[in-house]
Amino acid sequence: MDKSKRKAIIAGNWKMNKTPSQAKALLEELIPMVKDADCEVVACVPYVDLAVAVETVKGTNIKIGAENAHWEKSGAFTGEISTDMLKEIGVEYVVLGHSERRQYFGETDETVNKRTKAVLAAGLIPIVCVGELLWERKCDITDEVVARQVKLALYDVSAEDVKKTVIAYEPVWAIGTGETATADQAEEVCAAIRATLAKLYDAETAEAVTIQYGGSMNAGNCDELLAKTNVDGGLIGGASLVAEKFQPIVAAASK
Ligand code: PGA
Repeated sequence: MDKSKRKAIIAGNWKMNKTPSQAKALLEELIPMVKDADCEVVACVPYVDLAVAVETVKGTNIKIGAENAHWEKSGAFTGEISTDMLKEIGVEYVVLGHSERRQYFGETDETVNKRTKAVLAAGLIPIVCVGELLWERKCDITDEVVARQVKLALYDVSAEDVKKTVIAYEPVWAIGTGETATADQAEEVCAAIRATLAKLYDAETAEAVTIQYGGSMNAGNCDELLAKTNVDGGLIGGASLVAEKFQPIVAAASK
């Protein structure tokens, strides 16, 4: 992390976990535990939990995020949720292009780009996920794969908007597997993402962008990961579902 240059953000990605009453209980438990955090604390929760989550964290330092958003304002898109809907209830962040959406729900680089632009246009903060598959790492094309995803996600996004965008580097082989990238591997790819941003925009813009690491980040490995210059926080799946497991990561990012 380099907090002098950019915001450190620890975001939970709850995925398809927690009913509204369970969401309220978890957030109520978390509020006192993270109230003195010296980093941004975000909980990205399922759609039906959003309203109660926003209500529960009112007046605290926890921000609420959604896990996806459609690019159209409204219309015949059964099952989808628009940025206006999210904005009106007080959502501030939106996870986009998560590997589970790319893998199971046909998400493409093109739709990630459309969603990113819509989310930014609505004044919400996108957390754009990128990351390589295991066989892509084995073929030694990690940097190419990730650079391609970053470039396509940010097509037609202005420098001003990219500074508001969060990028989450999540090696797909490390998600929910208990296998974490080493701190050096995470730093290498996060630095490569920043170099891509510098080429697409300029060095000053690249330095302003928060780049998170995600993939089995937990209390045991977060210190080492967050100590790296280009790792500006974490997108946390499994460990965000239990307050005692999430709090130490927030504490580590607050140092
Ligand atoms: P994990 O998930 O921490 O459970 O590996 C991270 C993510 O998918 O965002």
